[in-house]
Amino acid sequence: MDLGIKGRKAIVCASSRGLGRVCAERLAEAGCDVVINGRDEARLSATAAEMAKRYGVKVTPVAADLANPDGQKALLAACPDPDILVNNNGGPPLRDFRELTRQQMLDGVIANMVVAIELIQKTIGPMTERRFGRIVNITSGSVKMPLAGLDLSSGARAGLTAFLAGVARTVADKNVTINHILPGAFDTDRLRGVVANTAKTKGISPEEVASARAATIPAKRFGQADEFGAACAFLCSTHAGYITGQNLLIDGGVFNGAF
Ligand SMILES: NC(=O)c1ccc[n+]([C@@H]2O[C@H](COP(=O)([O-])OP(=O)(O)OC[C@H]3O[C@@H](n4cnc5c(N)ncnc54)[C@H](OP(=O)(O)O)[C@@H]3O)[C@@H](O)[C@H]2O)c1
Repeated sequence: MDLGIKGRKAIVCASSRGLGRVCAERLAEAGCDVVINGRDEARLSATAAEMAKRYGVKVTPVAADLANPDGQKALLAACPDPDILVNNNGGPPLRDFRELTRQQMLDGVIANMVVAIELIQKTIGPMTERRFGRIVNITSGSVKMPLAGLDLSSGARAGLTAFLAGVARTVADKNVTINHILPGAFDTDRLRGVVANTAKTKGISPEEVASARAATIPAKRFGQADEFGAACAFLCSTHAGYITGQNLLIDGGVFNGAF
C-alpha cells in the first residue's frame, strides 16, 4: 500500500534501536526523510548509515538525551518543521513504588509525559497551518493493564494519554492526528533486559523466563518489532486522517476484554 507520505519529514525520538527504530525504518521505507535519535552516538550513527543506504532517503542522526532541553533543541534544529512526530523514550526500570524517591518520580513524569508534550507544543502549529500532521506516541500496554513495578511508567504514560485526548480534538479539523500505540511484550533489548534480570533473581535461565512469559500471551510468543513499525507507519499515513485520539493496543491478545 502506498502510504502517501513520500517526501514528508519525520522526527522519531529514541530510535537508534527497538520499537523507535522500526517506526523510523517503516517511515523511511515509505519515502520520508527521518531524524533519528538516541544517546549512544556510535550506535545511532551506525543505524543512520544503514537506514540511509537501505531506503535511499535522508536520515539525520541527533545524539541527544530527550530529557535535556538542549537535546530537544538539537532535534528541532535538525528538523524545525516536521510533518510527522513519533514520541518515544526509554522507560523507567522496574521498582516497587514504595522505593521511588520524589526526584525519581519527577524524572519519570518528565521522561514519559512532559518531553512528548513539549515536543508537540513546539511542532503542532506549523502542522495545523499546513493541514497535515501525524503524531504518534509510544506508550505501553500497562496504561490499560497495570504491571507491578511499572507504576511510574504506567502513571506518566496514562497522564500523557489523558492530556492529549483533549488536544487531539482541537486539531482534528486541520488534518492533524494524535494517537498512541500501546506495546505489550515485544522482543527488543528492553524486554531481553527484563528477562535477564528476572532470570538472575529467580536463579533460572533466560530461556525459561521467556518461554513462561510467552505462554501467558494468547499469541504464545513475543511481538516482533517490525509488526509494531508497520502499525505506526499506517497511523502516519494519509489513509489514517480520520483516526485520532485513539489507543492502539498491540499485545498478542493479553488484554482480556471485548473493547
Ligand atoms: N519492548 C516492550 O516489550 C515494551 C513494552 C511496553 C512498553 N515499552 C516501551 O516502549 C518504549 C520503547 O521500548 P523498546 O523496547 O524499543 O526499548 P529499547 O530497545 O531499550 O530502545 C530504547 C531506545 O530509546 C533510546 N533512548 C533511551 N533513553 C533515551 C533518552 N533519554 N534520550 C534519547 N534516547 C533514549 C535508546 O537509545 P540510547 O540507549 O542510545 O539512548 C534506544 O534507541 C519504552 O518506553 C518502553 O518502556 C516497551
